[in-house]
Amino acid sequence: MGAEARLDSATWLGRDVVFKQRVVKGYRHRALDESLQAARIKNEVRLMLEARKAGIAVPIIYSVDLPENRIVMEEIPGTRVKDALEELPKDQAEMVCRQIGDIAARLHMSDIVHGDLTTSNMLLDGDRIVVIDFSLGSKTSELEDKGVDMHLLEEAFHSAHYRRSELYEAVKDSYVKTYPGGAEVLKKVREIEKRGRYTRKE
Ligand SMILES: Nc1ncnc2c1ncn2[C@@H]1O[C@H](COP(=O)(O)OP(=O)(O)O)[C@@H](O)[C@H]1O
Ligand SMILES: [Mg+2]
Repeated sequence: MGAEARLDSATWLGRDVVFKQRVVKGYRHRALDESLQAARIKNEVRLMLEARKAGIAVPIIYSVDLPENRIVMEEIPGTRVKDALEELPKDQAEMVCRQIGDIAARLHMSDIVHGDLTTSNMLLDGDRIVVIDFSLGSKTSELEDKGVDMHLLEEAFHSAHYRRSELYEAVKDSYVKTYPGGAEVLKKVREIEKRGRYTRKE
């Protein structure tokens, strides 16, 4: 259970699904709250579909239920990339990291900024990585936003994966190989680090 969404496993029309339900916060005006939640769900769904168009594996969306504030999607079997990276042997972990870099590149080439690009929001299903949780994402060509995405990803490697943080080199390497504008984004990341603060968009 996350801060703003409730995730439940279920069977729905004979399929293994996940219900992702936004938790309604009581402190806002009710009508405003409802339209805000609906806008966020629509944003998340739209970005998942855009990502799919860009060739990124995302869960299949079965239903979008706005009155219930919920998305019904395919349940991805497997483990979070966050956990897999700690357990896999080095050469396999490195392959996963090259895939992560390639995914980030493809998202950014299509002007999709994920908004919470960490290894907790990637699931490893066999040897494919499925990206989830586009709730903080946006469609933008802004270098700054792409930079924040890559900055967050790097932070995840220095915190969650601090014992193997050298693996981030593989992420960066494949990111710039796939994305012609990648080097410019990584330059922006250095600038963001120097500034020492960043803003996460909601
Ligand atoms: N489609 C899915 N299939 C399997 N597990 C999922 C799926 N979507 C979410 N999860 C699990 O639920 C957790 C939280 O979901 P997420 O969409 O990241 O919401 P939030 O981080 O906002 O709580 C994920 O880290 C993952 O473990
Ligand atoms: Mg998440």
